[in-house]
Order: sequence, then C-alpha cells, then structure tokens
Amino acid sequence: MPNMIFSRITGLGYYVPDKIVTNQDLTQMMDTTDEWIQERTGIRERRYFEYGKDTNASMATAASRQALQRAGLQPGDVDVIVYATITPDYFFPGSAFLMQRELGLETIPVFDIRQQCSGFVYALSLADQYIKSGMYKTALVVGSEIQSSWIDKSTAGRSTAVIFGDGAGAAVVQATSDPSRRIISTHLHADGRFAEELYVRDPGSSRPDRPVTQELLDSGGFNVHMNGNAVFKHAIQRFGEVIYEALKANNLTEKDLSLLVPHQANMRISEYVRQQMGLDPEQVINNIQRFGNTTAASIPIALTEAWEDGKLNDGDIICLAAFGSGFTWGSALIQW
Ligand code: UT7
Repeated sequence: MPNMIFSRITGLGYYVPDKIVTNQDLTQMMDTTDEWIQERTGIRERRYFEYGKDTNASMATAASRQALQRAGLQPGDVDVIVYATITPDYFFPGSAFLMQRELGLETIPVFDIRQQCSGFVYALSLADQYIKSGMYKTALVVGSEIQSSWIDKSTAGRSTAVIFGDGAGAAVVQATSDPSRRIISTHLHADGRFAEELYVRDPGSSRPDRPVTQELLDSGGFNVHMNGNAVFKHAIQRFGEVIYEALKANNLTEKDLSLLVPHQANMRISEYVRQQMGLDPEQVINNIQRFGNTTAASIPIALTEAWEDGKLNDGDIICLAAFGSGFTWGSALIQW
C-alpha cells in the first residue's frame, strides 16, 4: 500500500469526577436496592460531577491533556477536535469550543457531535476519514458526559437514573504510513424510526410556545425517557451485527479478535454479546461496575483502562462497538 495514509491511536486518557455514588447512596434518593441494580445492570457505583469543580469541557480537557502527553504531543500539535457529547455545558455553542479555548487552540476547527452512546465511534470514524484524506494529521477525539444533572433521581426516574454516570475519555489520532498499526475500518448505522424509545424531548424548538415553559417542566419532558426493554432487545442484536460486519469487511472472524471494547450500556448486554461470539471473559472489557454508563465517554474510558492494564499489545485486533439512542450503532476495528 505505497503512499497511503492511515490513522492510528497514539495516546489515550480519561478523567472521572472524584465523587463516588454507590448503589447504597441511590437508595437514599429513590426506591431501589443494591441487589436490583447489580443484578439487572452489573453496576456497583458511578461518579457524579461536583458543581463548581468539574464541567463537561473541563473533564474532556483533563482527559485530552493526558492523552496528548502519552502521545508525546503538545496541545498545539492538534489540527482538529471531534467532541461527542449529549450533555454539553451550553445549549449552544457546543463544549468542543470550550475545550478548544481551555487548551489554548485558537482557530482550529471543532466538531460537536451528538450521536449518544455511539458518539465516540462516530467521532473516531470522522477523525479517521479526515486523516486518511490528508486534510488533517492529528485529531483529538473526545467523549464527555455529565448525565447526573439530567437524570430524575426520584423513584419515578429510577429505571434510567441508576444506570448513568459522569466522565470523559479522549484519544489522540495521528496520521501514519504504517499499515500494520492503524484504524482498519469503521462501520456506522442509524435508525430514526426508534428516536423516541430513548430520548430527552425538551428543550425542543418545535413548540407553539418558548422551548422552556413551566408546563413543559411539569410534564417531565426534560427527563430521560427510555423504553428499557426495547432498547435492550435492539442492542443485543445490533452489537453482534456491527461487530461481525467489521470482521467480515476485513476477511476476519471472531477468532482473530484479541479484545472487544463495548459501550458500557449494561453488563448483561456485554455478557450476552460475549457468549454469542464465544469470547473468553478476559477478551471483553467491562468497567460499568465502577463507572456506570457514561454514554459517549464509556468507550474511551474503557479503552484507556485497557491500555493502562497492558491489555493492548502491538498488532492485536481490537473492536470497539456501540449502540444507543437514535437508534445509532457502530464499530471500529483497530490493529493496535
Ligand atoms: O446506553 C444507551 C443504551 N441503553 C441501554 O442499552 C439500556 C438497555 N436497557 C436496560 O439496560 C434495562 O432495560 C434496564 C436496566 C434499564 C432495566 O432493566 P429491566 O430488566 O429491563 O427492568 P424493567 O424496566 O423491565 O423493570 C422490571 C421491574 C419493574 O417492576 P414490575 O413492573 O416488574 O413490578 C420496575 O418497576 O423492576 C422495577 N424497577 C426497579 N426496581 C428497583 C425498575 N427500575 C428499578 C430500580 N430499582 N432502579
């Protein structure tokens, strides 16, 4: 493959807030139990941001600084930021602008993308295409979420509140001419027919009145609405499909896979996928027990931990896979 440009992840980092919220802590806020949460989701605890200390953009900045340092780069080396979040600091502009400012990177382009739990895979795919096209050499790809201020922590919101947590993860993606260490391919999908199965309706613009009224607040439109059973059923099907799509596209099988890093949606979903694929428990990264579901941040946090634990070895075939609201789903196959 002479003269071809590929992209490669050269640095990973993550940041989670200090505040640990255990299942037991949640029982003080809503009618739930540690047993129910662990049995249905695998989660033991999650992190919540502290107002005045963390913001969506500050967490992303911390994760990015760590990723850059591990890549041996300075913030000024970055050509483009692709930032995935559904919980930005402002309604607009997006948090990518705030992180660009915090990193002192005036005038480089930034993208804010909202593809929910698939956000990081979508962001990585964008960065990969830009690098392969030759337009940019170094991209910062980020997932960052503050879910704890959105979720309804009363008993009415318990079926969604217990699964979400806060945090950020980042990857430095750089151009390379080495075909043996690269992002091999990415595969993205969406199906808007299911938009309302997992959504936050407000503040929406298609309203007879202002997007924020007392009536809309009282109606619960600002809360996360999730048809958990429907999401679960679609997730277990789509995860498998999109992982095999990536493998088949590259004439590989599950036997070639060293590691699967799934979006941390629910331990039962990851476990189902693992068993269907015949993978060993050590081949699937799970950290949902400690961080809950951090939406767009979950994959880069899990990938960073895998790297820190020495689970990413040169030449390994690694698959990232996600499914979430939209519905969206996607995978990225990487030769580490
Ligand atoms: O990351 C984005 C994508 N999201 C996902 O992939 C999430 C997919 N869905 C899920 O993970 C699961 O559907 C949940 C974990 C959200 C819920 O688990 P479930 O096994 O589907 O429970 P359920 O909603 O069917 O509820 C079962 C029972 C209900 O009681 P009844 O009607 O059987 O008496 C709920 O009221 O559990 C009750 N329940 C709870 N009980 C204690 C719901 N939430 C709770 C709770 N604590 N937190």
